[in-house]
Order: sequence, then structure tokens, then C-alpha cells
Amino acid sequence: MTDQHNIILLPGDGIGPEVTRAMQTILNAVAAKFTLNLHCNEKLFGGAAIDATGTSLPDDTLSACLASDAVFLGAVGDPKYDGAPVRPEQGLLSLRAQMQVFANLRPVAIMTGLEDFSPLRAERVHGTDMLIVRELTGGVYFGEREESDENASDLCRYSRAEVERVARIAFTAAQARSGKLVSVDKANVLATSRLWRNAVNALHRDEFPDVELTHQLVDSMAMKLITDPSAYDVMLTENMFGDILSDEASVISGSIGLLPSASLGTNGPGLYEPIHGSAPDIAGQDIANPIGAILSAAMMLRHSLGLEEPAAAIEAAVQSALGSGLRTHDLGGDTGCSAAAAAIAGQL
Ligand code: NAD
Ligand code: IPM
Ligand code: MN
Repeated sequence: MTDQHNIILLPGDGIGPEVTRAMQTILNAVAAKFTLNLHCNEKLFGGAAIDATGTSLPDDTLSACLASDAVFLGAVGDPKYDGAPVRPEQGLLSLRAQMQVFANLRPVAIMTGLEDFSPLRAERVHGTDMLIVRELTGGVYFGEREESDENASDLCRYSRAEVERVARIAFTAAQARSGKLVSVDKANVLATSRLWRNAVNALHRDEFPDVELTHQLVDSMAMKLITDPSAYDVMLTENMFGDILSDEASVISGSIGLLPSASLGTNGPGLYEPIHGSAPDIAGQDIANPIGAILSAAMMLRHSLGLEEPAAAIEAAVQSALGSGLRTHDLGGDTGCSAAAAAIAGQL
């Protein structure tokens, strides 16, 4: 038996527990195949934690996450907390901040046989394979907030150091891929975006002159993402632009249910979550697509546990299951969440 890896599972709300179970089916299969010692411990988080303890991120959950090798999150959120004083999403923002996972990697690619599921024409999406690097612990998500019935404000603030550390990750990723990086901002209007652009340019000049860097304003990026997605490789952007552009990019692949993410800091455990939410409209029916969750587990093995071969095996199993016709409901098929996981485990 190899070293023990301690993984905290935060199933959360809505379809979160369903896709987490599906992901566990794959972890069990990969552990058996490669004789891995993956030790999973489940904790309360999000709405489930509010109901049980009054807070979305209980101390016990946070300390377990900080002491782990990696954290897997299903999803949080439920319409029943709309207007409530404590929201499940606050727990997620607080967890990202406390784990200091400032770089959120969201790969978007067209998978085997899924060209026709994109809302864009197959020839337009052909060859799309990009990595969105979203800053995750700064910007308007974490600025001072004021809220009254008559006035509200959300402050967007970035420091040069915050831009540099996430840009370094994006430049390094670009070096390992095609050598191209597009940095997305709104420098024609926002001061934070001008700082962003200056910091990215300085880092390019000083540390990564070999990378081909371009800048794109976020509004035209939203348009180009749809008209010419295969022209982009690594895309770096700030927190809120990255939130919006990554959901937009997700549908190019056919469904938001397919996309994984990894959130990384300088050291310490990473946080792994599918990019979709708790999907209250389909929760409890065993029809969610578990592939985003399963591919997030592959990213977890690769980035936090140093298990490249098992990670690649999970990705290959997903591709071959799709290649053999696996289709969940969001892809027009009738395979359920747990059945999809069983089919992918079978490929392993
Ligand atoms: P959502 O991503 O939950 O759902 C958007 C649409 O995509 C829905 O029609 C849903 O059925 C579909 N969908 C999402 N995941 C799917 C999957 N795996 N398989 C098949 N279809 C899927 O976004 P929303 O409805 O805007 O948000 C719902 C709740 O989730 C909100 O409370 C929101 O704050 C929260 N949320 C949480 C996270 C997270 O936990 N990381 C991410 C996004 C949204
Ligand atoms: C995401 C989600 C979160 C975000 C919400 C739930 C706080 O939309 O992970 O993309 O905006 O970052
Ligand atoms: Mn989002």
C-alpha cells in the first residue's frame, strides 16, 4: 500500500451529494486499480451545515480542510436561503479565502463525440481546448460591502502582488501548453483592470518573455469566445470576469455538467469542484451529469496528490465512456448520475 492521502469531502447541497457519490465510485475504482490509499472524510458544508449548525462553514469543517491533502466540494446553494441572513455561498467564499486558493483552473475542451452537443456549429468549436485561470480570492467578491434598502456598494480592489501570483500560474501553464496567453480585463474603464494589465505586462517582460501575451477587453472576449473559441489557449482573468466567462465557455463543450475545476494556492491543500452549482431544478432525481465532479477528482489526484497516472486513467475512462455512447440527461440521453459513474468505473 502506498502513502495515505487524506481527502475531505464536502457534498453540500442540491446535486452536490449526488455528484460526490458518483465521484467516490471513481475514486474507489482508481484506488483498487492502482493500489492507492485514499482516505475520505466527509464534513458538513453549505446549506446542509446551516441547517445543522447555523453556519455554512463550521470550524470543525474548516480545520479538517486546512489539515487535509485535498478538499473535494460537490456544490452549495439552495433557493430556500434567498433573503436569509446566512447564505451557503458565504461558506464557499470563506473556504476559498481561508485555504488561500487564489488560482482557479477551469479547463474547457470538446470531448470525444460531443461536437454536436455544442450550441455552436461543430466546425466552429472543433479544436477548442482552453484553460481559464480565474483569480479566486480577490476583487469585488471580497471588497468591503455596504447594503441598505436605498444604497448598496461592492468595492473591487486588487493589489499588484495578488495579480502577479495568479498571473505567474497562468504564464507557467501557457509555457506547458501552446505558449499563448490572453489576459482579460476592462482597462478602458476600471482602475483595477489598469493595474491588472500593468502587472501582467511587467511579469511578461521580466519572467515570461517567451510567452505570446495578448490583452482583450472582457466585453469583446465574451463575443470572441463564442465566435472563435479554438483561437484561445490559456485565458487569465479576475474573479468576477472569470466566473461569468467560464460559465459561458462551459456550454461550448456541450454542458456545464462536464466541466471540472481546481483551486490552488502557493502550498497547502487544493480545492476541487465541478464548476456547476447545486442545480435545484434537477436535485434528488439522480439525473445530474457527474463528469465535472469526476474530472475534478482527476485534477485533485494530479495537482494535490501527485498521482498523474491514475489522474490520466480517470480522464481516459471518461473519454472512452463518452466514446461508447454514454449520454446523461443534459446530453439528451437517459443515463442517470450513478449509472454514468458505474459506466465510467467500468472503463477503468
Ligand atoms: P447551476 O449551475 O446550479 O445550474 C444551471 C443550470 O445547469 C440548471 O438548469 C441545472 O439543472 C444545469 N446543471 C448544472 N449542473 C448540472 C449537471 N451536473 N448536470 C446536468 N445539468 C446541470 O446554476 P444556478 O441555477 O444559477 O445556481 C443554483 C445554486 O447553485 C445557487 O444557489 C448558486 O449560488 C449555486 N452555485 C454554487 C456553485 C458551487 O457550489 N461551486 C457554483 C455555481 C452556483
Ligand atoms: C462558482 C460559483 C461561485 C462563484 C458562487 C456560488 C459563490 O458561481 O464557483 O463559479 O461565484 O465563484
Ligand atoms: Mn460560477
